[in-house]
Formats: sequence, C-alpha cells, structure tokens
Amino acid sequence: MGSTILEQLREQTRPAHLALESQPLLQRLLSTQLTETDYSQLLQAMLAFYQSLETELVTATAALLGRHPDPHYRYLPRAPLLARDCRALGCDYSGFIHTPIELRLNGSGAYLLGILYVIEGSTQGGRFIARHLADTLGVDENSGASFFNIHQMNSSWKAFRCWLNRDLERPYQNDIKSVIEGANMTFSALHTHLDQWHFPPRVFS
Ligand code: HEM
Repeated sequence: MGSTILEQLREQTRPAHLALESQPLLQRLLSTQLTETDYSQLLQAMLAFYQSLETELVTATAALLGRHPDPHYRYLPRAPLLARDCRALGCDYSGFIHTPIELRLNGSGAYLLGILYVIEGSTQGGRFIARHLADTLGVDENSGASFFNIHQMNSSWKAFRCWLNRDLERPYQNDIKSVIEGANMTFSALHTHLDQWHFPPRVFS
C-alpha cells in the first residue's frame, strides 16, 4: 500500500521545516536568553503574515468545507490571537504595511490543503515553544502566549488529520503534487517574510 497524503506531506516538507526552524527570529525564540522584546517582534511579524493571508484563507477554507463537509474541522483564525498576545505584552500591532504573501489561493483545493497542513501542523511545534515561553518569560495562554497555546483550547490539528484521512484522501490522491507544493510554498513564504521583516518601533500602550 502507498503512503498516505499526510505521510507524504511530512516527508516532503521536512527540509523546508528544518530550514524554517533555523530562521534567525525563530532561533531567537528558542534561545534561553529570549527577551520580551525579541518575543514581541516575532509576534508582530507573525501577525503581519497571518493578517495578509487570512482574509482569503478563511473564505477559501469555508468553501472547501462546503464541498467536503466535516462535522469537526473548522479553521481558527490566528490573527486575533496574535493581536491579543501583542496587547498582553503592550506592544503596538497596528499600521503594518502588509507585504503581499506569495501564496496563490487560486481556487485549487489541493494547494489550499497544503497551506492548511502547515498552519494546523505548526501547533505541534507550538506545544514545545509554549513550554519554553513559560520557562523563559513566564507567559501563558492568558498573558501573551495564546497563539503558541492553540493546542490547549482547540483540537483542530486532530480534526484536520481526520478530515484529510477520511474524506480527502480519495478526491485528492491524484493531485498530491499540488498539495505538497502548497505546503512547501507556505513554509517558504513564511521564511521569506520573516527574513524580510523590518520591525516597527515598539510602542507601549
Ligand atoms: C522554532 C520553531 C519550531 C520548532 C522548534 C518546531 C518543532 C516542531 C516539532 C517538535 C514538531 C512535532 C514533530 C512530531 O510530532 O513528530 C513539529 C511539527 C510540525 N511543525 Fe514545527 N516547529 C517550529 C516552527 C514551525 C513553523 C513556524 C511551522 C509553520 C508555520 C511549523 C510547521 C510544522 C508542521 C506542519 C508540523 C507537523 C508535522 C507532521 O506531524 O506532519 N513548525 N514542529
């Protein structure tokens, strides 16, 4: 028997995941010397990324769910959580000049699935990062780390995997290349975005 879409995704995005883990802003996030300023800057960069992406992503995901209904999976928008974390840390999050994110949400369900895989799967790394944030900065889901604690309040990674395995494996099995392309493009779009991110001045409220 061939491997599942999920197994192929995991296998074929591993290099992009590893490369992203060593991106300097994410490396700093994992440092034992992490400061609140470092963390605020990463939150702002992540917020700008998700704000650019989510208007279209939310609509496109709802349309995909319309074509392949699932009783459990719903996309939880990340931008409001990141904005809440910025507020909790007292850093400004308004007035970003949005760099367009190089992702084509052009109606391809397969490509969209790849994007969703990356976003939902990243909650796995979030577990580990959340512990590190609690240890270094003492922040938790109520005090500035709700984005990295999504796994505490939401089981969308599990629901997404079930949806993919049960309902989408068959319709997309001949389109796996586009699924993987969507995932790899998401990793590289985030990587480029973080590399190019210029920090706005930190404004305390
Ligand atoms: C420094 C930052 C990061 C670390 C240390 C990290 C670490 C991890 C770890 C430990 C896992 C779980 C692996 C497993 O259960 O086998 C994981 C899974 C994953 N991460 Fe990351 N991650 C990081 C950043 C990211 C980012 C920014 C994204 C994308 C936005 C991402 C996407 C994923 C995906 C899609 C998976 C699921 C793989 C699968 O089970 O199929 N990660 N990560």
